[in-house]
Amino acid sequence: MTMNYGQVKKHWDSWAKEFGTSLRATTKSMTIKQLEIFALMKHLVPGSKILDVGCGNGYNGIAFIENIPNITVVGVDYSKEMIENAILNAQKLSQEQQKMIGFEVADVLTLPYNAEFDIVTTDRCIINLTDIDLQKKAIDNCCKALKQGGVFLMLENSQQTYRNQNDARAAVGLSKRNPPSFNLFFDEEIILPYCSSRGLDLLQIDDFGSLHDLMLYVILTAADPTKDHYDEPAIVKAAEVTMNLSAQGCGYPFGSFGQNRLYIFRKSTAETNG
Ligand SMILES: C[S@@+](CC[C@H](N)C(=O)[O-])C[C@H]1O[C@@H](n2cnc3c(N)ncnc32)[C@H](O)[C@@H]1O
Repeated sequence: MTMNYGQVKKHWDSWAKEFGTSLRATTKSMTIKQLEIFALMKHLVPGSKILDVGCGNGYNGIAFIENIPNITVVGVDYSKEMIENAILNAQKLSQEQQKMIGFEVADVLTLPYNAEFDIVTTDRCIINLTDIDLQKKAIDNCCKALKQGGVFLMLENSQQTYRNQNDARAAVGLSKRNPPSFNLFFDEEIILPYCSSRGLDLLQIDDFGSLHDLMLYVILTAADPTKDHYDEPAIVKAAEVTMNLSAQGCGYPFGSFGQNRLYIFRKSTAETNG
């Protein structure tokens, strides 16, 4: 059964306590995290002011600071424990870099920012709102935090591409996977028109996780269903092929079988009502 808002919050607080500063507090897969950071960073602009919403224990924002010149990052998360661990993780940065990043406890449903950021990012945050109206509210608040003409990088899980992955599993005799009980994956037929109605112009969708997830959840699992295949050499290579091809200008040419997609929007300079 799907968890409600309070249960999901407890889930993240408890993972923050259990896994601390480790990547495991937010994902089981080092390789998908590498791909997520790669995909997001391709759209970051030196000198920009970035808000990372649902930042967890800070991996993305810290990688942004390490790799993109002259940016500032504010990471927010509703879990106090996640923020405490993000602050600890940021101690590995130089003194100069640490001045460029800050972390605050804040809920995406009550974000306190108004037209302040050049870029707003999410990474598997909005899917933790298991009610479609709350997802819409979260999108509104991210949009409000952006300057006119700013870029919204929304990396979230899609029901539609997840269905493609399950079709691929069925094609090799595997059973259907179901989303975790603390997530409501995006229904793109509702979310994308909603974004458009709020003045977010969709520029592009990046399927950076497609080959990775096909290998992990379909091919290797079909070859050996008795174990998990996270971060095995074949998965590491799938991530490497994806990143190298993309870096060479080939885009992400492996279809749409990944559960995570990166939706890239520009906040319209035209006024929207409401
Ligand atoms: C899957 S983790 C991803 C963390 C981080 N974005 C990353 O990719 O490393 C989801 C994060 O979203 C946070 N989150 C979920 N709902 C939230 C909300 N309503 N407001 C702020 N943060 C939220 C959780 O506390 C958790 O840290």
